[in-house]
Amino acid sequence: MSQQIVLPRLLQIGAGASTQVGQILQSLGCSRPLIITDPMMVKLGYVERIQAHLPPSDVYADTVPEPTESSLRGGVARVRQGHYDCLIAVGGGSPIDSAKAISILGKYGGRMRDYKVPRIVNEPGIPVIAIPTTAGTGSEATRVTVITDDECDEKMLCLGLGFLPVAALVDYELTLSLPPRTTADTGIDALTHAIEAYVSRKANPYTDAQALQAMGLLAPNLRKAFHHGEDRAAREAMMLGATLAGIAFSNASVALVHGMSRPIGAFFHVPHGLSNAMLLPAVTAYSIPAATARYADCARAMGIAGASDADATANQKLLAELIALNTELQVPTPAAFGIDRARFFSLLPVMAEQALASGSPANNPRIPSAEDIVQLYQSLWD
Ligand SMILES: [Fe+2]
Repeated sequence: MSQQIVLPRLLQIGAGASTQVGQILQSLGCSRPLIITDPMMVKLGYVERIQAHLPPSDVYADTVPEPTESSLRGGVARVRQGHYDCLIAVGGGSPIDSAKAISILGKYGGRMRDYKVPRIVNEPGIPVIAIPTTAGTGSEATRVTVITDDECDEKMLCLGLGFLPVAALVDYELTLSLPPRTTADTGIDALTHAIEAYVSRKANPYTDAQALQAMGLLAPNLRKAFHHGEDRAAREAMMLGATLAGIAFSNASVALVHGMSRPIGAFFHVPHGLSNAMLLPAVTAYSIPAATARYADCARAMGIAGASDADATANQKLLAELIALNTELQVPTPAAFGIDRARFFSLLPVMAEQALASGSPANNPRIPSAEDIVQLYQSLWD
């Protein structure tokens, strides 16, 4: 049996990679870019730094965190009016996910819900060049975007080649001043991508290699980047790790953590990495019995178990590490985050239904029932 791997056509990786944006555009035959970003990226001067390497370029800076369909409308209108031949996404996962959606909606029209799974969007949109400023989502290298439907608070998973950036400029120097909270949230997201890609039922030897390499880069450097943001070696490892983890999960899928994380984010506006972090220890404990050897490999790749550790020992060390990591990175419980317990419990059936509908739980080594998912959500409150 063969597997298909999809990747951006160009990856520019390392210090100063983002300064190559002009040459990248030329090599793609593009000359009329629209920069898609958010107000903070403009305020902090990141957009100006990118523009310095481009011909005069228009900017759409109204993307929002955890993007909703309504937040895209202004960008879609700009694309329709502007005759742009590419979109340059500058920022964290949200501007990049927004640009991917604007690329498809700008070219083909319709509503975002028309493009959610199970539909696979393989038709090409307006080419997206992604310049990430966080080490987390891996969106620069994935065929995935996640957009919330405003009308029903569903975080819609959208998949296909149409959402894959044509180029990604992976420049860790853009992450050096990232605050600790964002560093932690995005870093745990990346680690979750690597673990979920490795234990996924759709994993294959290519994605295994990317996922294991990503874990080896991310796990030893997440605490360092959190406590010492100026640590260039840690930032460089986190950035490459996040991109490799993105490549891994884009081709192997994520699993139960992501499936359950999206409804928490949609209903309670918890940042994506944080809702993953809340779930990761409990979902890992639930899943280990179905993939003991795979999870033991994760512990070894993360450097927290040795080659001589038996799988059972490595699994225990993995669980202990995930809990310790949440403590050290100050990941709040749902209660500490301010989620209303009664509302959370009343939404459990809908959240479980949305989690299952995304398809991600079906990739988990242990496939959950709706009841299992409800119990896992409840366990976050014990
Ligand atoms: Fe994620």
